[in-house]
Amino acid sequence: MRRPVSSYPDIMDKIVIEGGHELHGEIRISGAKNAALPIIAATLLTPGWHTLYNVPDLRDIRTILSLMATLGVVWEKNGPDTLRINTADLSGCEASYDLVKTMRASVLVLGPLLVRMGRARVSLPGGCAIGARPINFHTQGLKKLGAEVVLEQGYVEAVISNRLPGGTVYFDFPSVTGTENLLMAAVLAKGTTVLKNVAREPEIGNLIDMLISMGAEIEGRDTDKLIIYGVESLNPAEITIIPDRIETGTYLIAVGAVGGEVKLTHCDPALLPALTEKLRLAGLDLTEMADCFLVRGNGSPLSVDIKTMVYPGFPTDLQAQMMALMTFADGTSFINETIFENRFMHVAELRRLGADIKVDGASAIVRGSGGLTGAKVMATDLRASASLVIAGLAAHGVTEVSRVYHLDRGYENLVKKLTGVGAVIQRKEDN
Ligand code: EPU
Repeated sequence: MRRPVSSYPDIMDKIVIEGGHELHGEIRISGAKNAALPIIAATLLTPGWHTLYNVPDLRDIRTILSLMATLGVVWEKNGPDTLRINTADLSGCEASYDLVKTMRASVLVLGPLLVRMGRARVSLPGGCAIGARPINFHTQGLKKLGAEVVLEQGYVEAVISNRLPGGTVYFDFPSVTGTENLLMAAVLAKGTTVLKNVAREPEIGNLIDMLISMGAEIEGRDTDKLIIYGVESLNPAEITIIPDRIETGTYLIAVGAVGGEVKLTHCDPALLPALTEKLRLAGLDLTEMADCFLVRGNGSPLSVDIKTMVYPGFPTDLQAQMMALMTFADGTSFINETIFENRFMHVAELRRLGADIKVDGASAIVRGSGGLTGAKVMATDLRASASLVIAGLAAHGVTEVSRVYHLDRGYENLVKKLTGVGAVIQRKEDN
């Protein structure tokens, strides 16, 4: 087995940022983490070599590949971002607590393993920094499709004796990975499955494209109702991972906070309808082209209100970054988080930099304070870390963001990309 990537930087590193340097130049956007993860899981559905292009080199991708290795999967890297995955000989059907606790998306192997192996045993993820995040929609949905599902000793155990019959599932909330798991289980069902009130995030469209190239029959891409006509077998396939809209949004917001002019290349502006609207209202000058963005900002954004919603609404994965931007606004911004119940962990850290933010339940009021001052802060989750980096880039003085391993989960070469556009930012060992 060849591993696709070189050894990974120390998890205890910190990022040190000297604030106040405008950003000028070009940043190349990587493939989307949240599209690559389910697509890697989907390769379990059928034996053979699958080829994935534009795969980002991230800690979460390594984690899912480690999980795939425990199942008997072999892979190799073919060029900088092409991953070839061989799922010919599966030897296991379990995702252990140790792997699932480091990355909740490991639960994505549940559906494909079940229908390929007839059995899957996946650890329950437990709570996380942004909310309780249960997986009841995944388990109840699999039951509706005809699987036997029990919870034993912290593990979800799902079994089928024959092909899944298929069925109709209504999601109480349009869960992203819930939709993906049921889609992957349904493609090999004996009958037809209807999934109602599903999530419509672009990453699900990317997964559907992969499944269709594998031979699946799916109707309703980009709508809230998917009809899946089960097929008897699938074939290995290849797919290009879509650009990471959250990475794209993070850099757009960074330019808004610190000022400058940056071209983001290899991205898809059409995937960020709510953010672009809000950033224009905040005074940023955005030019959208087929696969790039040109963004100009002056570091003095106008205040805007945001409410996180499922796609195409404002993404929860950009709420923390937007809050950092609003701390530099001249005015008051009202931020409402509706997807996760505990996604304001960055507030306490932004306050350490001098931000004036009041939280009341799922809402935060940000009073732009005319600037932040650098300090030592701690990252609590992936997107919270990105918000601290944005705040540090625009703050006066030096900001140190510790626990960089959160950033490594979802931002490829963040320090290199920001240095390339003039930021004064370094990764250092944290003692
Ligand atoms: N929910 C349930 N039961 C379930 C599943 C979800 O109650 O069985 C609830 C959750 O607790 C949450 C809401 O439904 O309140 C939405 O959760 P969803 O299932 O959509 O989230 P997810 O699939 O676990 C994905 C992304 C997250 C992103 C969310 C929302 C991946 C691998 N992860 O998570 O990405 O925030 O959708 O868009 O696709 C990130 O990249 O930083 C990240 C957290």
